[in-house]
Formats: sequence, structure tokens, C-alpha cells
Amino acid sequence: IKKIGVLTSGGDSPGMNAAIRSVVRTCAFHNVECIGIYRGYQGMIEGDFKELGPRSVNNIVNKGGTVLKSARSKEFMTVEGRQKAHKHLTDYNIDALVVIGGDGTFTGAEIFNNEFGFPVMGIPGTIDNDIFGTSHTLGYDTALNTVVEAIDKIRDTASSHNRLFFVEVMGRDAGHIALNAGIGAGAEEILIPEEDLGLDRLLESLQKSKASGKSSSIVVIAEGDKIGKNVFELKDYVEANLPEYDVRVSVLGHMQRGGSPSCFDRVLASRLGVKAVESLLEGKSNFMVGLLCDKVNLTPLEQAIKGSSEIDMELLRVSDIMST
Ligand code: F6P
Repeated sequence: IKKIGVLTSGGDSPGMNAAIRSVVRTCAFHNVECIGIYRGYQGMIEGDFKELGPRSVNNIVNKGGTVLKSARSKEFMTVEGRQKAHKHLTDYNIDALVVIGGDGTFTGAEIFNNEFGFPVMGIPGTIDNDIFGTSHTLGYDTALNTVVEAIDKIRDTASSHNRLFFVEVMGRDAGHIALNAGIGAGAEEILIPEEDLGLDRLLESLQKSKASGKSSSIVVIAEGDKIGKNVFELKDYVEANLPEYDVRVSVLGHMQRGGSPSCFDRVLASRLGVKAVESLLEGKSNFMVGLLCDKVNLTPLEQAIKGSSEIDMELLRVSDIMST
């Protein structure tokens, strides 16, 4: 392998730049050329490539977003799109690919590998932490810190006005952000898709919380929660059933995807980038590099996509005890 392409695809996440930097510098360390592919698979289809050397990635370890830009390419889902992409790679003499993203990115990489036998290696980059084979995806830790900081601020105003806040956080179909940031920020209740608390239990818990003398309440709700009402309907429902509560809603949204990556995410990105490139140079392909028990390891892409990273249900119990 003499030339490796690197791209970021899907929703961006803090730490992607640190991972690009790591891939570029590991390539340089091993005298392998590195080509940056812009806008994910769409840039591969359009031949939007640029040679990257160790100095091209100066001062990006601390930057949120992705300097390579990102996209969710519909064209790459077609055979014609993938053929165009493959032609550009061969025209540029690119021998292998490192793709940084979530399960959509990995699905694309796996199909591409199956069709053309093209060597691919995945680095998990998503704030959702919903990938099997790694305890942490890039950006998850930063997003947790962002959410905790936001909820701390909401708590200030909630307690000044004796209010109840529903705070909706991202995570797609997974409750990792809600559960962990909820515990970190001292939420009274946490609603996640993996466990249906039910409306009755929610009301009961809020009543208990009021009776115990709490001046404010924060309920963190994962965007994929299955309680059957969206966060605004939930506000109306609680106000109708518990008139003693003055309720407000805060949807944190895309601010959770931005910001300078935490030290944890920067170190993780650096470790995963080294492992991704060195695994390709050892002739391995179709794997995702991840972190398990603080060791960097490889998981077949197929398993990373099809499995799901499990929620630790003990954390829900911890949250219940903490909100006593
Ligand atoms: O996968 C990351 C994520 O931020 C999810 O948490 C969220 O559901 C989704 O992407 C939002 O996607 P978009 O940026 O396309 O609105």
C-alpha cells in the first residue's frame, strides 16, 4: 500500500479533525502518501481530492467539525455512484481507504469493499456512541460535556423560577447521551428509547420530587425516546396533569455536535488513526478500529454495523438513587 485516502462522512463529530491528523501523520511516518477526500463519499464520486502532508494538518487537533467536510451521499447508495467513485480512486492510484463516521459510513464502506475488493478501515465518529465494538465513538465524550454544561445553565434558571424543564438531547435511536449526561447533570428523570418509563411513572416521579422539597426539576429526554409523545406534547401533558408545575422545554440540537474536542476524544482519535493506518499496512481490511477496556482493537465492519452498543441499565438505577 503506497497511497491511502481518508474521508469523513455522515454527521460530523468533535474529534474528527484529530483523527484526520492522526491518519495523515501516521501515513507520513510510514512513508505512505495520504489523500484527503472532501465531502465524504460524494467527494469520492466527484474526484474532490487533495494531497495531505503532515503540515497540512497543523493546528486542527483542537478544532470541532471536519476540515474535510462531510455529507450523506445518496449517489453513493447506487451502483453507478460507487463505480464512479472507484474509478476516481484507481485514477489517483489510491490503494486503501480510511473512513471516519457512523454506521451509514461503515455500511457504504462494506458494500464498496464487497463490490470492488477495495481495502477499507473504519474509525467510529459520531456523538451518538451507537456503534458495536467500541466503548466510545469520537465526539461522544465532548458531546456529553457540552450537554452537561448546557444543563447546568438551565438548572440555574430552573431553580430561580421553581420550574420543570424538559431537555431534549440527540442520540438518534440510542440513549447514551441522555443517560450519561443526565446523571452528570443531576437530572430528576431520564427518558431513553431503551426503557419505556411510561407516562404514569413519570407523573408519579415528578409528584414525589415536588413533595420531597426540590425547587427545580430537570427531565432529560433522548430524541429517540418511545414514551409516545414528543417533548412539547409532554410539556402540555404534564401541565394538564400536574398544574403545580410550570414547565419549559429546551431542545439542545446541533450545538451538541460542535465545539473543541475533549482531551479524551483527541487522545482516542490519535490512537484510532494510528491503528487504522497500521492495520491497512499489515494487509487487514473491512474492520473498524475501536476501544474496548482501554485497548485499541479491531471489529469486523459487518458486526460494528449490525450489533448495537448496549446501554448499561445499572446506570438507570444509579440515576433513580441519585434523584432521591
Ligand atoms: O448521528 C448524529 C446526529 O447528530 C444524531 O444525534 C441526530 O439524530 C442526527 O445526527 C441529526 O442529523 P442532521 O444533522 O442531518 O440533522
